Amino acid sequence: MRKALSIFILVLVFCNDFVFGTGQLDGGPGQLWKYDEFNGGDWNRTYGAIEPQQIHISISSESEYAKVQFATAAKTENAILKYWPKNEAHKTIQIKDGENWAFVDNGTAQHTIYLHNVQTKKLKPATVFQYQVGAADQRGHVTWNKATFEFHTARKGHTVNFVATADIGLVNAVAVPVLKRLAASHKYDFLTLSGDQAYDMADFNGTKGDEYMRFVESVFANIPFMGGVGNHESAYNFSHWKNRFNNVPYKKSGFDNPMQYSFNYKSLHIVSWSSEGNFEGSRAEMETSLNWLEEDLKEANKHREKRPWVIVLGHRPLYCTSFAAANDTSCTADTTTLRDGLLNTTTGVRTGGVEAIFDKYKIDMYLCGHRHNFERTYPVMKGKVTSKSYHNAPSPFQYLVGNAGNFELTIPFNTTGPFPDWSAARYSGYGYSTVMATKHQLELTHYGITNNGTGHKIIDHLIVTKD
Ligand SMILES: *[C@@H]1O[C@H](CO)[C@@H](O)[C@H](O)[C@H]1NC(C)=O
Ligand SMILES: *[C@@H]1O[C@H](CO)[C@@H](O)[C@H](O)[C@H]1NC(C)=O
Ligand SMILES: *[C@@H]1O[C@H](CO)[C@@H](O)[C@H](O)[C@H]1NC(C)=O
Ligand SMILES: *[C@@H]1O[C@H](CO)[C@@H](O)[C@H](O)[C@H]1NC(C)=O
Ligand SMILES: *[C@@H]1O[C@H](CO)[C@@H](O)[C@H](O)[C@H]1NC(C)=O
Ligand SMILES: *[C@@H]1O[C@H](CO)[C@@H](O)[C@H](O)[C@H]1NC(C)=O
Ligand SMILES: *[C@@H]1O[C@H](CO)[C@@H](O)[C@H](O)[C@H]1NC(C)=O
Ligand SMILES: *[C@@H]1O[C@H](CO)[C@@H](O)[C@H](O)[C@H]1NC(C)=O
Ligand SMILES: [Fe+2]
Repeated sequence: MRKALSIFILVLVFCNDFVFGTGQLDGGPGQLWKYDEFNGGDWNRTYGAIEPQQIHISISSESEYAKVQFATAAKTENAILKYWPKNEAHKTIQIKDGENWAFVDNGTAQHTIYLHNVQTKKLKPATVFQYQVGAADQRGHVTWNKATFEFHTARKGHTVNFVATADIGLVNAVAVPVLKRLAASHKYDFLTLSGDQAYDMADFNGTKGDEYMRFVESVFANIPFMGGVGNHESAYNFSHWKNRFNNVPYKKSGFDNPMQYSFNYKSLHIVSWSSEGNFEGSRAEMETSLNWLEEDLKEANKHREKRPWVIVLGHRPLYCTSFAAANDTSCTADTTTLRDGLLNTTTGVRTGGVEAIFDKYKIDMYLCGHRHNFERTYPVMKGKVTSKSYHNAPSPFQYLVGNAGNFELTIPFNTTGPFPDWSAARYSGYGYSTVMATKHQLELTHYGITNNGTGHKIIDHLIVTKD
């Protein structure tokens, strides 16, 4: 059975450019996952009661501080982070005053794990750090995690590099072996993820979330995770997201939970915004989300000379052309709901649209996922192309990278077209993107992952400039 599944995936990866029609593999929402060629490793072993697991790291603006989060199966109030500049173990710093709390999944089992956040002291720039986390029992005996992880702080000079991905499953996670290599390479300063992970973390009383977080540890522990929330994290009012990704810098951003935050890095201001406010929860919550976004962008624009590029990271697209089935409204009704807001059927008026905010504050780029493919637009506003050039563009363009791989395979495009004129590039295979930013230029490259995940090919290359 396992063998048959592997062959099935291989064929799909090889032939992806030609596949039309959609399908799915086992291991999606509500289903048990299985091993395949992308999720192997010893991460699903039995862990000690207080052995650290599910380790991942995030940073605050300019990588001044890093915060490491991890889980233990049993309760302990004594979480420890030790870190040191690479190969200078004599400079080790140990931090013990972290935050520790129990996270109770809201399924019938009330499955509980113990979560720990530990923040570094102010970090030296341009340094590679190594770290380990530990947990102490009541007698003071510390159990450290087995591996040593690494991250680096902002380098000298103006260039910043990051990796962009979204929609990563526990099965058919085609991009994960590649992301592991990129994370370990130190070529990239952080990783963005535009929502949807695990499919779904809340499954099986939340144990699928534990398994997924162990699986991706080798990526998220070795590069700062600067991701956002998606619709597949919505269970129990997004509690898995709010608890498991509690180390993102939301407190420093003036938001009251991890659903939204922002940070600066050299010439970039990046905002992680929840597009789910327009689809789940109350109108009041949607307004809280949009009001914070506006305030954040207003503040960012006071520093636009220093940080000319404003990127908003969200899950759902404002523009897309793909469809998984004839009744799939993701690229029709849903994009309208996000761009223009919710319809009041009495008045016929829409409120809560995000596109007017993007226009008002002149953001440069909206980075999203949700559709399991790659699609880039021209600079576009209210459905109209505002420029075919990406030099000093009058409105944002959208960059959709949702093809990391999950149970749902990829979502095809209409093979014949015609396509709306704002749809500039499309690819329905697996892949990821890299972004290199300097003060006057953004260089975006989308890589397709070929063969069994070992090959790369450049699918789309874009240079965006401003004076
Ligand atoms: C993963 O580990 C759990 C707990 O040991 C076990 O129940 C489950 O069967 C394992 N999953 C697979 C696919 O091996
Ligand atoms: C959740 O836990 C309850 C109680 O232990 C159990 O009866 C139920 O089967 C579990 N649900 C799933 C989907 O595993
Ligand atoms: C948690 O589960 C209980 C019982 O099913 C339910 O009433 C409650 O609404 C759930 N809470 C959330 C936040 O989903
Ligand atoms: C869901 O969480 C938000 C905070 O993100 C909170 O404002 C809201 O009241 C919660 N909703 C429910 C039904 O508990
Ligand atoms: C859309 O159609 C598919 C079959 O193509 C069906 O399984 C699904 O339930 C439909 N969804 C809705 C919302 O009607
Ligand atoms: C729709 O608009 C009417 C008139 O302004 C208002 O009374 C009503 O509360 C609105 N409905 C919603 C769901 O906001
Ligand atoms: C593809 O687009 C063309 C033109 O809009 C349309 O006629 C055709 O039905 C579409 N194909 C599918 C499979 O939806
Ligand atoms: C992947 O395919 C390449 C050749 O295309 C081969 O050299 C490599 O061993 C394969 N890796 C795995 C893990 O199967
Ligand atoms: Fe999604």
